[in-house]
Amino acid sequence: MTRFSFLLASALLGLTATAQTPCGSGTPDAKVEGSGSSFRATKGSSAVYSGSDYRAAIQAALDSISTGQRVVVLASGSIGASTLTITSGKTFEVCGTLNVGNKSGRGAIEVTNAADVSIPHLTMTGNPYFGLRISGARNLSLGRITMNLSGGLGIRFDRDRDPSANVKMDVISVTGAGSHAVETWNIDGLAINQVIARNVGECGLLLQKVTNAKVGLVDGDNVAAGNGYATLRFANENGKLPNGQYTANVFVDKVVSRGGGRGIFCVSQSGGAVIERAELSSNGNNAVLIENCYNVQIRGGTVSGGGEVRLSARSEFANNRDISITLAVNNNSVRESPCGQNIKWNISGNAKRQTC
Ligand SMILES: *[C@@H]1O[C@H](CO)[C@@H](O)[C@H](O)[C@H]1NC(C)=O
Ligand SMILES: *[C@@H]1O[C@H](CO)[C@@H](O)[C@H](O)[C@H]1NC(C)=O
Ligand SMILES: *[C@@H]1O[C@H](CO)[C@@H](O)[C@H](O)[C@H]1NC(C)=O
Ligand SMILES: *[C@@H]1O[C@H](CO)[C@@H](O)[C@H](O)[C@H]1NC(C)=O
Ligand SMILES: *[C@@H]1O[C@H](CO)[C@@H](O)[C@H](O)[C@H]1NC(C)=O
Repeated sequence: MTRFSFLLASALLGLTATAQTPCGSGTPDAKVEGSGSSFRATKGSSAVYSGSDYRAAIQAALDSISTGQRVVVLASGSIGASTLTITSGKTFEVCGTLNVGNKSGRGAIEVTNAADVSIPHLTMTGNPYFGLRISGARNLSLGRITMNLSGGLGIRFDRDRDPSANVKMDVISVTGAGSHAVETWNIDGLAINQVIARNVGECGLLLQKVTNAKVGLVDGDNVAAGNGYATLRFANENGKLPNGQYTANVFVDKVVSRGGGRGIFCVSQSGGAVIERAELSSNGNNAVLIENCYNVQIRGGTVSGGGEVRLSARSEFANNRDISITLAVNNNSVRESPCGQNIKWNISGNAKRQTC
């Protein structure tokens, strides 16, 4: 087996295990309980915090455990405009609802240069700058993460800090983010089961400088309305391998996008991608836009109405090459301009066509 398929297989097995465990089950090593203005954190039978500060109670619980141990937060409350930090080897499970504020440039929860952190369950509300902010994470596992936001960005992997490796996500549901639901940078080895984005300002899932990725479903409803983002976007050399090649290494089973702005958008020297199926309807901007990308396949699906399916190019980068698109396109148009290199169209449906 290649290293990649081994990584994927182990990541996907891990996802199954995560999904089967209900929040708070078993015997956590530390707990946060209480409500209103009275919270307590306990490690085993010892109190590690008692008072009115929800954030302090959670951080005290996190700081009390060692690697391989787990904190369960049963209480709901607000951490305000502040940050919780999770260090290596710790499992953080939130069964209550964590309300957060906006700490400029920071995450409500941060994982930085840490290995084997796991967040099997989390429900977050509020308007974080970043709900989760991550960099330099190795063997990170995110399980069922629900963010019902009034603004901000859901999950962000940083651009200008250390890269991450072997990251898995089970089901990430984000509603109401002003920016992206999930924005990734600099990950080698990413396995995502589902990203569900509803009424999100920018992207549903944005992959940048990510290699060896496997994504089950990206499902966006009213994502990126009125701007150039998309339910699924590949950008900034996404899928470019360290040897400079674009051999297929980013695999997406299915993309669903309704309304909003773009459906699928590949740009700025990204590629190495295979999308098995697309179901795109009434997108307010291009249903599909591929611009300066290399080795991209869309293997099937439907486009109903919405903005045109387009291959285009900017002069600053090499033109599209090795693109293959099979789609039924109705009540829309398909355009290739300028002509790319080794482009294979297999379009059915009533769409108007202007290809090379
Ligand atoms: C990540 O997990 C794998 C097994 O799944 C293990 O072999 C490896 O050492 C772990 N890496 C780190 C950095 O902990
Ligand atoms: C999301 O939040 C809004 C407003 O806070 C609330 O009305 C809605 O019921 C919440 N939805 C979910 C799925 O939690
Ligand atoms: C957070 O605050 C910064 C400035 O302090 C602002 O630019 C940004 O729009 C705010 N974000 C949200 C989600 O409120
Ligand atoms: C195209 O649009 C027309 C008018 O809105 C609609 O009746 C028809 O079902 C659409 N065709 C397809 C194949 O989606
Ligand atoms: C073209 O698309 C049809 C479905 O419309 C499919 O059956 C066929 O296999 C495709 N051909 C190629 C070469 O991909």
